[in-house]
This record gives sequence, C-alpha cells and structure tokens, in this order.
Amino acid sequence: MDKLIIEGGRPLRGDVRVSGAKNAALPILCAALLTREPLVLDNVPQLRDIDTALALLRRMGVMAERDGQRVTLQAADVSSLEAPYDLVKTMRASILVLGPMVARFGEARVSLPGGCAIGQRPVDQHIKGLQAMGAEIHIDHGYVVARAGRLRGARIATDMVTVTGTENLMMAAVLADGQTIIENAAREPEVVDLARLLQAMGARIDGIGTDRLVIDGVESLHGAHHRVMPDRIEAGTFLCAAAATRGRIRLIDADPASMGATLDKLSEAGAAIDVDGDTITLAMAQRPRAVSLRTAPYPGFATDMQAQFMALNCVADGTGVITETIFENRFMHVLELQRLGADITVEGHTAVVKGIERLSGATVMATDLRASAGLVIAGLVADGTTTVDRIYHLDRGYDGMETKLAAVGANVRRSR
Ligand code: UD1
Repeated sequence: MDKLIIEGGRPLRGDVRVSGAKNAALPILCAALLTREPLVLDNVPQLRDIDTALALLRRMGVMAERDGQRVTLQAADVSSLEAPYDLVKTMRASILVLGPMVARFGEARVSLPGGCAIGQRPVDQHIKGLQAMGAEIHIDHGYVVARAGRLRGARIATDMVTVTGTENLMMAAVLADGQTIIENAAREPEVVDLARLLQAMGARIDGIGTDRLVIDGVESLHGAHHRVMPDRIEAGTFLCAAAATRGRIRLIDADPASMGATLDKLSEAGAAIDVDGDTITLAMAQRPRAVSLRTAPYPGFATDMQAQFMALNCVADGTGVITETIFENRFMHVLELQRLGADITVEGHTAVVKGIERLSGATVMATDLRASAGLVIAGLVADGTTTVDRIYHLDRGYDGMETKLAAVGANVRRSR
C-alpha cells in the first residue's frame, strides 16, 4: 500500500495551481445521465473518486472519454440502471446516480453505501424526497430499488442540510412534471456549480445559492459545456500547510469567494492574506495563533477543513477548541496526531488542542480523506520523518498532492 514519506521542517514557498473541485465534479458527471446529448466538462480533476464515477457511468453504458482535464460524456444508450455494490462501496457519492436515473428512466437500483469511517451517513433524505415526487422505493438485498412513472413536482423539506441529498433531489426535479420546492437546501458552492450546469442543459431553477430551490420541471434536457469550479478544500489545505510551516504560497485558479470561512480563520491565526481575482497569496511570518471553530453547513466552516485546522492548531500558540457538528465520528485523526506528540483531548464532539512548539515525526495511518490531509500537514511541520500510511484515501480527493507539495519546497515522496 502506498505511503507518503515526509521530512518535516521546511516552509512552503511558491505557486500552486488549484484543481477542479471533486465535490462539484462528482454530481456534475452524474448529471450526464439526464440527457442523451453530450456533456463536455473542463477542469475535471484527476482523482480516484472521479475514476470510480467514470467506471460506474461506463458500467451503465454511458460513453465517457477523458482527455487531460476535459471529460466528454454521452448517455445516449444506457444499458444498465444499476449501480453495483463493488463500485458504490468505494465511494458514497455513487448515490448521486439515483436521482437522475429515476427522473429520466423511471427506474434505478443503487447499492446502499453502508457505513463509513466518519459516521453512519444514511441516505434517508434522498429516499424520502424521491418518494415525495412519486417514486416507489424499497430496499432489496442491500439495494435501493426505485420505480416511478414521470416524477411529479413536490414540496420537500429535508430534516437536515444535506449536500448530496440536495443535489440528488435537484437532479430528479429538473425532469419532473410540475414544480418542486426544496426547503432547507444545501447552499454549498458545489451545489451552485451543479445548478449552473443544469441551467446550461435547459433546466429551470430559481433560488440558486439559497436554502430554497424552486425547480420547474422540463420535458427533456440538452447537452452543455461546463467548467468545473476550483476545489476550495484542496485550496484551503495548501493554505493551512503554508501557514503551519510559516511559509508563503500563492494559489492560482482558486475561487476565493467560496472560501470565506477558511480565509477568516487563517487571518485570525495570524496569516497575511491577499486576494487578487482568482489568486490567493498567504504568508505566515511567525508561529500561528490557535483558533477555535465549529463546523457547520455553508457558509459556515466546512467539516472538510476541520482536520487541517486541527493540525495547524497542534503547533500554534495557545489553545484552540474545535467542535464538529456535521459528522459524529470525524476525529479519527486525533489519535494519529497524538502519535506525533500533539496535545489534544476529546470530549464528545469537541476537541481541545493545546499548541506545542514542535511535533515529532512518526508513522501514522490515514483513516479518511480529510484526516489524511491533516496528517500530511502535521508531517510537514514535524521534526524528522513522518510516514503517512494508507494514502489511498488522499488519492481519492487530492490531484497530485505530493507533486504539488514538492514543487513548493516540501521534502515528500511516495513509497509503494
Ligand atoms: C458531502 C461532501 C463531503 C462533506 C459533506 C458535508 C460530496 C461528494 N461529499 O457529503 O465531502 O464532508 O457533504 O459538507 O459532496 N444525512 C442524513 N441523511 C441523509 C443525508 C445526510 O442523516 O439522507 C446526515 C449525514 O449523516 C451527516 C449530515 O446529514 O451527518 C450531512 O451529510 P451530507 O451533507 O449529506 O454529506 P454528503 O453529501 O454525504
């Protein structure tokens, strides 16, 4: 299994190009199922999760070709309306084929994603929303089996803010008969990016970027050309790494407007941040100050940035209190950070991190995607060698992370 070997203690300096957003690209790829015409997508990141989504779509009979950052998809002849367990189990976002399939074909069989390292993550809201639109759904041998005639518009209020839930229901509603209102919709920038693509395909959606989406279903959608938005989590991860190592980096092709909460916390930690169009420059001259934060749906502080800020707090001046409100088991990185000497105590959903001068390198195990990113940041500031094992998690969501880190001066290499 691949490992990353990091010699810590070097400040990051230089330019990093931000890749396209994984969490925007995944639903956007699935939207190809909504039309028989081609979708041309640019800025699609090279990631394992994207490969999984492409493999899933091809398994269903969708034509999918990649040429660098461009992916062309065409779902003219869909031969299978099933998302099988072997693909879904590696990527929960596979559930995003459910809404489009039911909407266009009136039928779908999608494996239940099952448990996952960061908590239970059920899909009950996806199912309830589709049922409200007239789909008959039952669970059969671990599969969500859905049947419907043409879906009907409905008023849906989700019990909590769910990102993929909102995306699935929005993709279902664009082809439904009549108007659908989604209350308590997720406002994440990736939901907005999907909505923009759907509009380019001919969908009628109002309230984009708010928690109330009003969707007037249309008979059919057409092909479109879309550029996937920049990855705000990848961008934030590099900024945290630069701040923790007291470096100076410039992000190119970033989307600062989607990164408010992250940039605010980095400023609070003492970083000098300069935003100019789609570039963000961060410089950290001194030891960072500890910051406290609480994860929340957008525009609150992203749960996907929590582990990286925990790593930053580990070497900061002072004590930071981190509260995780989105996922019940998202402190898996704490035990690993403690192996590097971090002073962290966890009580329930809250971690209290007392900053220390230096971490000391050790072997640690990546447990999920963003936890891995936190461990890499910790390795970059630790004395000596840190080996991050099981980095297949990192490959799911970071496009060429070690190449990008090495280009800004990190001493990092992959060992197989
Ligand atoms: C998405 C992101 C993930 C991010 C998360 C929260 C993608 C592919 N993944 O995940 O990176 O960490 O948003 O910002 O975009 N819930 C239910 N029932 C449901 C749906 C969700 O109980 O039917 C709960 C979840 O268990 C969780 C909370 O709602 O506690 C939020 O989950 P959700 O927003 O759905 O996360 P994902 O869309 O899976």
